[in-house]
Amino acid sequence: MFSRRKFLTTSLSAASTALVLAACGNDAAPAAAAPASAAGPDPATGGGADTRPGKRRLGRSTVEISPLVLGTNTFGWTADRERSFEILDRFSDAGLETLDTANMYSTWAPGNSGGESETIIGDWFESRGKRDAIVLITKVGMELDGQKGLSAAYIERAAEDSLRRLKTDYIDVYFSHEPDPGTPHEETLRAYQRLIEAGKVRTIGASNYDAGQVRAALEVSAAEGLPRYEVLQPRYNLYDRGDFDGPLHDLAIAEDLGVITYSSLASGFLTGKYRSEADLGQSPRGGGVGRYLDERGLRILAALDDVAARHEAELAEVSLAWIIAREGVTAPIASATSIEQLDSLVAALDLQLTAEDLQQLDQASAI
Ligand SMILES: NC(=O)c1ccc[n+]([C@@H]2O[C@H](COP(=O)([O-])OP(=O)(O)OC[C@H]3O[C@@H](n4cnc5c(N)ncnc54)[C@H](OP(=O)(O)O)[C@@H]3O)[C@@H](O)[C@H]2O)c1
Repeated sequence: MFSRRKFLTTSLSAASTALVLAACGNDAAPAAAAPASAAGPDPATGGGADTRPGKRRLGRSTVEISPLVLGTNTFGWTADRERSFEILDRFSDAGLETLDTANMYSTWAPGNSGGESETIIGDWFESRGKRDAIVLITKVGMELDGQKGLSAAYIERAAEDSLRRLKTDYIDVYFSHEPDPGTPHEETLRAYQRLIEAGKVRTIGASNYDAGQVRAALEVSAAEGLPRYEVLQPRYNLYDRGDFDGPLHDLAIAEDLGVITYSSLASGFLTGKYRSEADLGQSPRGGGVGRYLDERGLRILAALDDVAARHEAELAEVSLAWIIAREGVTAPIASATSIEQLDSLVAALDLQLTAEDLQQLDQASAI
């Protein structure tokens, strides 16, 4: 078990948070941490030898992250424990810090029952002693052990289970994994408030919520003086743009919410390794990739090929650099099953796309 880091909790009510921010001015945030609404290539770091963008703040919380998050739904599935440790070591050695997991990862893999990803991460913390160097994101709400949802009783139990598997006593960002229409927002947010006040959670987020669902939750937070969702986790990549572009994007900007995108590589499609049905057998993930093999998907790959050639970069780098440059996005989440793949994700941080590149990619991905 790793000792709790001293942190400023985000247990302030929405109203008092606003007061504190107003009193300090928004510049109270460390200079390197831009709010999500200002996300994009960081002019402060651009152009020099080290072109990696600085850390960005998640909404109005105190949590700051680099603009690349490691997804870990592969741990205990397409990456065994040893490979997962190698990937975590390499990610950490690259100076990066944010891990995205969930209590139910990876229930879908044969022989698994859930909790495998959290357990591997907890074992890695124990082995390397690096808990406090990591920003840890986990989630509750999707089915695990026949239970799911966002009731207060379930959140309380699930949080303790996650903390035990993760071998820590705090979660940096605790996500509602998906909306639970059967539980009022107020009940869920009060449960999170208790966890924040107990020092077990720093801030909260909402995944797979549409704009109306986020707005409704924000209204309850403001009206009841409860913590608000500071960060969203929609699916978003060059192919799947509909869950974020539009009302959710506009709301994120207006409300100063952090946004970390999942399936940022469309499960591997946007790396260019799947060009025909015959390629789908390359990974257990191939089955889910077939839907991208249409005219638009191939048009996106052709644009990625062009841009990648201009920069002598891999397609994965270009795909992630496009997301990193999107207005309103704090960071893409992406996963890897080898050190080579991990290196290509990290390289995206140093790739500066030009206005021409961005326009070409946007045009190719237009629906
Ligand atoms: N909130 C949610 O509901 C939700 C849903 C899904 C995912 N997520 C989160 O988002 C994370 C990322 O999403 P994702 O796992 O769906 O997939 P992704 O990041 O879109 O794709 C990653 C996969 O692409 C392949 N890949 C990565 N780099 C590559 C490279 N350079 N060359 C070739 N192949 C490469 C690897 O799979 P192979 O080696 O097996 O081909 C890797 O696992 C997850 O781990 C999870 O943390 C959240």
